[in-house]
Amino acid sequence: MHDANGTLASGCIIFNLRSYSVGSDTQLFSVPAMPGLGANSMQIFLDTANIAEIKKSLATGVVSGVTTNPSIISRENKPFDTCIAEIIAVDPNLTVLLEVLAMDTQGMISEARKLNNISNNIVVKIPMTPEGLAAVKVLSQEGIKTTVTLVFSLNQAIAASCVGADYVAPFIGRLEDIDTDGTELVNTIKRTFETQKNKTKIIVASIRTPKAVSTLFSIGCDIITMPLNILEGMFKHPLTDAGLKKFNEDWQKVPAK
Ligand code: E4P
Repeated sequence: MHDANGTLASGCIIFNLRSYSVGSDTQLFSVPAMPGLGANSMQIFLDTANIAEIKKSLATGVVSGVTTNPSIISRENKPFDTCIAEIIAVDPNLTVLLEVLAMDTQGMISEARKLNNISNNIVVKIPMTPEGLAAVKVLSQEGIKTTVTLVFSLNQAIAASCVGADYVAPFIGRLEDIDTDGTELVNTIKRTFETQKNKTKIIVASIRTPKAVSTLFSIGCDIITMPLNILEGMFKHPLTDAGLKKFNEDWQKVPAK
């Protein structure tokens, strides 16, 4: 039905799929290894350590990574190791962001090395502190992928990039909570990185609304991580629901023979 450019060929008949099931088997939607790390396309990550939520979101096919932090892990009421093992078991190709707990540079480095050894697709989250920056410098030289987290200003993002962070994670919802424009910050980081021909990518975190997702991707964000309710909010539109209801009602009127 599609030509080499993905264009719908003329003369095709499009049937609506009236009966289908999505996601009864998450293996159907196995994500590619380290999708998009260094690539130039939009990616959606899920901000959770909850296995049921991860499976549900993967079943849609649009999610390629999972982000956690100590608060997110604590909600699961399980040991950290168990949480990680269960997440990786869902799909070994899933990009998984795990945060260190140490506050000192050596402690962060040693935790990051251990986390990195768990699977090929771990990105280690390091907090935006002077000790964290020093840790990122060492880890980036070792080829360990890092995200500098808890970023709330352009200067913090610049510092993270200067030490070789693969990603910075601005928390836009927490900025909005204190009446500060998070989207503007992301835009400024993005423009600065582009001006400087910088390789550090942006994972936008702390998302509160589906509208924020469309705004942030439309200004060119690389990756956005969001909770399940926001992901599901992205899919919803009242006209889709109304249209589908009408199609189903009309389909009942089609003679069987
Ligand atoms: C990402 O992993 C962040 O830790 C997370 O998005 C923070 O979200 P919150 O501000 O809603 O806690």
